[in-house]
Amino acid sequence: MVASEQTGQPLTVQITEEHEMLRQAVREFAEKEIAPIAAEYDESGDFPLDTIRKMGAMGLMGIEVPEEYGGAGMDTLAYVLKMIEVARADASHSTIVSVNNSLFCHAILKFGTEAQKQTYLRPVASGEKIGAYSLTEPMSGSDAGNMASRAVLNEKGTHYIINGRKSWVTSGPVADTVLLFTMTEPEKRHKGITAFIVEASQPGFIRGKKEPKLGIRASATSELVFEHYACPVENVLGAPGDGFKIAMTVLDAGRIGIASQALGIAEAAYEASVAYAREREAFGQAIGQFQMIQQKIADMKTRIEASRLLIYHAVQAKERGKITGERYTLEASMAKLFASETAMFAAHQAVQIHGGMGYSKELPVERYFRDAKITEIYEGTSEIQRVVIARQELGLR
Ligand code: CAA
Repeated sequence: MVASEQTGQPLTVQITEEHEMLRQAVREFAEKEIAPIAAEYDESGDFPLDTIRKMGAMGLMGIEVPEEYGGAGMDTLAYVLKMIEVARADASHSTIVSVNNSLFCHAILKFGTEAQKQTYLRPVASGEKIGAYSLTEPMSGSDAGNMASRAVLNEKGTHYIINGRKSWVTSGPVADTVLLFTMTEPEKRHKGITAFIVEASQPGFIRGKKEPKLGIRASATSELVFEHYACPVENVLGAPGDGFKIAMTVLDAGRIGIASQALGIAEAAYEASVAYAREREAFGQAIGQFQMIQQKIADMKTRIEASRLLIYHAVQAKERGKITGERYTLEASMAKLFASETAMFAAHQAVQIHGGMGYSKELPVERYFRDAKITEIYEGTSEIQRVVIARQELGLR
C-alpha cells in the first residue's frame, strides 16, 4: 500500500502477513468476547476487567513495547489495526486499550530510565496492571499548560510533595500506575510542568468522583485527588520542567490511536447501515434502492476510506520519526480530526438510516452514536486539532 510523499521520500505502509494474522486474531476475539458483552457493560458502566486481562495475555495492552519489557514488540501499524478491530466491537474497550498503549506505555518507553521501564512499563505492557495518563484539571483542558496542581521538592531533595485535583482521567477508578503532569515551577508556565510516575497504592492518592458519561460508559473515568502525595525523585519522568513536551509528544501518538478508534466506530456504523439498507423494505422495495439512502452509504464509505489513508499517512510519519527523530504532530492531528468527524458523521447517518430502530437500545447503532462523540473531544478537541494543523502550516506558535 502506497501513501503520499510528504517529505519527498518514498513512503509505504506494508500490511504484512503478520499484521493480517494479528488483525484476524483481534477480530475473532472482539467478535466472540467483546461484542456480546458491549451492551450490558454500556448499560451498567462496569469496567470490563476480564476481557482487558485476556487482551493483556494476547499482548494487546503494550503492542509496540519490546518483548523484553513485557510487550508484543510490534509496530504502529499493528497498533492501529488492533485499535480499529477492538473499536469496531466496542469503543469502551478500545479507549482502555488506547490509554494503556499509547499514552502510558509509549511515554515510559520513550522517556523512562531503565529502572522505570523495569518497574512500571513491564506490568502495564503485559496487562497485569492498568496505566493511566493525567493531564487535565477542572480549569485546564485545552489550555493544558495552565495547571493549578503543584509538586514541591522536600527539604532533603528526596521527594516531591504533590497536591491538587486532576479530572477526566481515563481508567482513573481502576488504574494502578498513573503518568501525572503537574507544576513544579509555576512562574515558568508550560516550562515549569514536570511528569511523574505515581502509584495508586501510595498514601495521598485518592480516586475522586466517577464521571457519569454519554458514551464509552464501560471505560471508567474519574477525578484524581492528590493530598500530600510523596513521590520519590526517581519517579520523575524525563527531567523536571520537561512535562509539557512529554505530554504533547505522547498525545501525538495517542491521537493516532483515537483516529483508529474513530475509524473502528465508523466501520461498525457503516456495516450495520449497509446490512439494514439491504434488508429493510419500504414502499415495496429495499430502502437501499432509494437514492437518498445510497447517498448516505456513498458518503460514509468515502469518508471511512479517506480516514484510513490519513491514519496510514500518520503511521508512516511516526515510523519515519523513530529513525529521524522528526515529529509527526501534523499527520497525527489531521488523522484524528478527520477520522473523529467521520465517526460522528457515520454514526449520525446510521441512526437516520435505521429510523426508529436506530434510536432503540435493541440495536448497537445508538451506542455507536453516543460513543463516536468523545473522539471529537478527548486527546484534543477538533478545534484544537485545527489549531495544531493551521499553526504548523502557517509556521505560527
Ligand atoms: N510535540 C513536542 N513538543 C510540542 C508539541 C508536540 N506535539 N506541541 C507543542 N510542543 C512544544 C512547543 O514546541 C513549545 O516548546 P518551546 O517552549 O520549547 O518552544 C511548547 O511545547 C509550548 O507549545 P505551544 O506554545 O504551542 O503551547 P500552547 O500552550 O499554545 O498549547 C496546544 C498548544 C496545541 C493548544 C496544546 O496545549 C494542546 O494540545 N492542548 C490540548 C490538550 C489535550 O489534548 N488534552 C487532552 C488530555 S488527555 C485526555 O483526553 C484524557 C484521557 O485520559 C485520554
